[in-house]
Amino acid sequence: MSSPKYSVFFGCLVDTPSLNELRIRTNGALGVDQTTGRIIGIGDDVTDSSTGSAEALVASWTGSQASVKGDVQVTVLSSDQFLLPGLIDTHTHAPQFAFLGIGHDLPLMDWLEKYTFKHESSFKDIELARNFYSGAINRVISNGVTFAAYYGTIHVESNRILADTIRKAGQRAFVGKVCMDVNSPSYYSESTAESIAGTEQFVKAVLGDQGNESGARLVTPIVTPRFAPTCSMESLRGLGDVARRYQLPVQSHLCENPSEVAFVKQLFPDCTSYADVYHRAGLLGKRSIMAHCVHMGAEDIRLLRESGACVSHCPTSNFALGSGIADVRRLMNNGIPVGLGTDVGGGYTPSILDAMRMAAAANRALIAGRRDRGEILEGRDGVPLEAGEAVFLATQGGARVMGMADQLGSLDSGKLFDAIVVDLNVPLSPVPAVSSTPAVKCLEDHPDEAWRVRLEQFVFLADDRNITRVYVNGNLIHAKQT
Ligand code: GUN
Ligand code: FE
Repeated sequence: MSSPKYSVFFGCLVDTPSLNELRIRTNGALGVDQTTGRIIGIGDDVTDSSTGSAEALVASWTGSQASVKGDVQVTVLSSDQFLLPGLIDTHTHAPQFAFLGIGHDLPLMDWLEKYTFKHESSFKDIELARNFYSGAINRVISNGVTFAAYYGTIHVESNRILADTIRKAGQRAFVGKVCMDVNSPSYYSESTAESIAGTEQFVKAVLGDQGNESGARLVTPIVTPRFAPTCSMESLRGLGDVARRYQLPVQSHLCENPSEVAFVKQLFPDCTSYADVYHRAGLLGKRSIMAHCVHMGAEDIRLLRESGACVSHCPTSNFALGSGIADVRRLMNNGIPVGLGTDVGGGYTPSILDAMRMAAAANRALIAGRRDRGEILEGRDGVPLEAGEAVFLATQGGARVMGMADQLGSLDSGKLFDAIVVDLNVPLSPVPAVSSTPAVKCLEDHPDEAWRVRLEQFVFLADDRNITRVYVNGNLIHAKQT
């Protein structure tokens, strides 16, 4: 028997269409066309979750008179479960999963030299890549990440294995061949020509490998100069040219650490700011993802704003490496799109949920420090980042950073169905049961308010145990064994 053409989910739907809008549809219904992987309709206040009701909904959403009997798979979520758009990690390094939690006593430049470059150089061995990457990718997926922007290493073949592993696992991703042609150790460096030609070779391979695959393309190559200190202006310009010719996104690091910023100033004395280095190379645009952006001057901010470039906020990493605290409200007030990144292994965990609460903690620390210095904070600048805002950064905000805000990030008709099922009542759940949470129990007559409290608990307490199903393009790519 062929699998049903449609799926309908009944239960609580949670999403954040905008930063300030936490939308909770307690009795929702959501339909997916399994052929296209897209959401075909949403129902609000639907209390009948029978197969007949699902079939009637599908018929009304598709406008089809033809019978959909037997062609609809129904999933009824429990009262502890909700559907959320898939979590988006806008910045992570796949090879760095091997030294999670190590070396956080060192600042960025020393950490790179002592651990990172040495470790990444071992991916010259493609067998190691083959053995290592599938475990790393499975871990990212089990954390509910449906879409991630990965850095690989400088090695084209190992990066192809990475891209292939992700595609086979069914995750959506940007994958980049790391480029570094100067100020890099002899055992982990390449020539300018290798940076540019290697990137083009990798781009062609990844685009070619996916040929006529049905549904929206899962893996897209991303042009990846590691960061200004390890790239010559010639290589940066060449990479800018590749991005333009192939219409590809770009990712790099920007203003992460004070010593790094000082080094860039020394290396590029003609540039007016760190961001200006990328700008002059043609690497700043709407499809550019700049990680960190902690130590930003007015000129850096201006260049990002005017070019439309986006920011990956990586608070876990910024705390772990002691880099500083990015002012996300300042970035967002300037109209710069912001999403969240785990920055494994500068960050010690692939959990975007951790990044969400770290973003909240970072923002609180920033506000407290300012108030201590006597600053008067006005409007939202004085309001700590809320749970709903953290969800926005991890979903719709991330989708904008990845250039797919119109395709992903919220539960709206027409969007691709990249989503997770959250279950707050699993064995060993870090989120307490409703029965032992009087604060929720007493809200029984106010289901919207009760869900708001549960969502806050999800953001501040939950982990991968609570993420029980992961869907990309409508396909179930991960399910927790129960
Ligand atoms: N800057 C250049 N390379 C890296 C890296 O691998 N991790 C982080 N956090 N920052 C970088
Ligand atoms: Fe990074």
